[in-house]
Amino acid sequence: MQKIIKLNRRHINQLAQIDAECKHQMEPRIKIGECKKRLKERFDKCHEIFFGFKEGGELKGYVTLKPLFPGHRHCELYWLAVKAKYQGQGIGSRLIRFIEGYAKRQGFRRVCLYTNKIMKRTRSFYEKNGYRKINEFPGYYGYKRHNTAVLYGKEI
Ligand SMILES: CC(C)(COP(=O)(O)OP(=O)(O)OC[C@H]1O[C@@H](n2cnc3c(N)ncnc32)[C@H](O)[C@@H]1OP(=O)(O)O)[C@@H](O)C(=O)NCCC(=O)NCCS
Repeated sequence: MQKIIKLNRRHINQLAQIDAECKHQMEPRIKIGECKKRLKERFDKCHEIFFGFKEGGELKGYVTLKPLFPGHRHCELYWLAVKAKYQGQGIGSRLIRFIEGYAKRQGFRRVCLYTNKIMKRTRSFYEKNGYRKINEFPGYYGYKRHNTAVLYGKEI
């Protein structure tokens, strides 16, 4: 059975597994311990609402929403990751559709997100899901090179 569930700190180990296995283009071999540390910090900050895609008892991907974002009734899709072995099966798109519906029910009218300019495949994934480029921000990320972010938005 497939379902999307709300997540909390008890899911940190499973979320770290997703981050470690999603083969993020900028950090493809990140260690599980580092993923757990970052997740704990994110839960401590309480800035994000976490939802996961679960199938057969396994969390295969997750998405987070930051309600605080500049702009009238704008919110931010902050994090999206699917384990590499399950990519290309529609899970990322389902998580996006879910978070858009959730944001709409909360009274938001636009979902925004940043992604790295160099991540062409990810950018085309967002464009296929209806996101339009708003602007570019050189130096947004902490990387020495390839640190330009593209801000995307979608009316919901
Ligand atoms: C981007 C990502 C969330 C998409 O999830 P998904 O479940 O694979 O996406 P879907 O199956 O719904 O859609 C398929 C599309 O996703 C994109 N996609 C698939 N694999 C991808 C990958 N490894 N990296 C980036 N984009 C990918 C492609 O556009 C693909 O369309 P195509 O088959 O026509 O080329 C997922 O690939 C991922 O976790 N990537 C690594 C982490 C990441 O980059 N997160 C976003 C950071 S802003």
